[in-house]
Amino acid sequence: MKPIVALFVGIAVLVNIAAALWLIWWTSRGVDKSSVQETTHVWDDDLTEYNNPLPRWWLWLFILSIVFGLGYLVLYPGLGNFRGLLGWSAVSQYRADDAAAQQLLERRFAPFKEESLRDLSKNPAAMSTAKNLFALNCSACHGSDARGAKGFPNLTDRDWLWGGSEPAVYQSISQGRDNIMPAWGPVLGSEGVEQVVSYVLSLSGREAKAASADWMAAGKAHFTTLCAACHGADGKGNQAIGAPNLTDSIWLHGGSIEDIRQTVTYGRNNHMPAHLERLGDTRVRLLAAYVLSLSQPATPPP
Ligand code: HEC
Ligand code: HEC
Repeated sequence: MKPIVALFVGIAVLVNIAAALWLIWWTSRGVDKSSVQETTHVWDDDLTEYNNPLPRWWLWLFILSIVFGLGYLVLYPGLGNFRGLLGWSAVSQYRADDAAAQQLLERRFAPFKEESLRDLSKNPAAMSTAKNLFALNCSACHGSDARGAKGFPNLTDRDWLWGGSEPAVYQSISQGRDNIMPAWGPVLGSEGVEQVVSYVLSLSGREAKAASADWMAAGKAHFTTLCAACHGADGKGNQAIGAPNLTDSIWLHGGSIEDIRQTVTYGRNNHMPAHLERLGDTRVRLLAAYVLSLSQPATPPP
């Protein structure tokens, strides 16, 4: 607060307290307790009101609360910019609580620090903590079962955009990933897009309706010149740059003809946020171990 505002607030508070004291004094003074006085208010013809002073104990409650208020203002912040003799503040309280909670967490996470990801993924205590971390930090995008959604990869299959090795998964989570599929509509025109979409469908064993040999050859030619650099000549993708495998019938952005046409024409821009700074190394390692554990046991051999 600006000093002038603080001064005004401080004076206003003190004047209010003094006014309350004065009011108590004024209302309790000079009432003649030996005779009963009546006010002039009358209701329902004959209901009247006595004008008795407040009971003593009630008055004392008022006075005690004023004394309490003054004591509070001396010890705690409340009078303008005066910090109070105890030096308490909401921020310092928050910092102390936060430090205590961090210490507790550190102790809880300490046993996980030295373990390898492989050991962590077999440690039930670590995995139950990791499951909670996942629910809290990841499920909004990847789903509570980690199976993903359109645009958000399924983390339980063995299909990886960026690779399923321990360092790759750790990096995906700690540093995040930015991924861009360029827009090809302007380059290919609508016929070129249709041709290459037909070819992409054929990569996973699907037939585009009424695709002649010439049409498919044109699609393949477009693919070789424009797409193979990222997706590979065989369309199996490249995990070093996050280019998805187009031959496995697993689609990040949907596998209908409309979805694929949309992807090729307008491109896709995808973002996985970095988590290292926010969560710290131990939690990211727990999450990496958890993600790896999801895709390992249940998957049938290829
Ligand atoms: C804001 C949404 C969002 C959140 C939150 C998020 N992710 Fe992701 N994640 C994505 C997207 C989108 C991708 C795909 C990026 C791409 O297309 O390359 C991704 C990719 C990944 C990958 C790489 C998958 C692969 O196939 O290579 C992993 C692993 C991953 N996320 C794990 C996590 C974990 C663990 C968390 C929680 C700490 C998390 N993500 C939180 C959106 C999110
Ligand atoms: C510069 C590298 C690059 C080039 C060139 C490129 N792509 Fe992609 N493509 C990507 C990346 C990266 C993604 C994944 C985007 C994401 O993570 O959201 C992708 C995604 C796709 C998808 C969606 C896959 C899915 O699982 O939903 C299709 C289909 C696709 N590309 C087809 C093509 C075709 C056809 C061409 C050529 C006309 C092409 N791409 C050229 C990098 C590229």
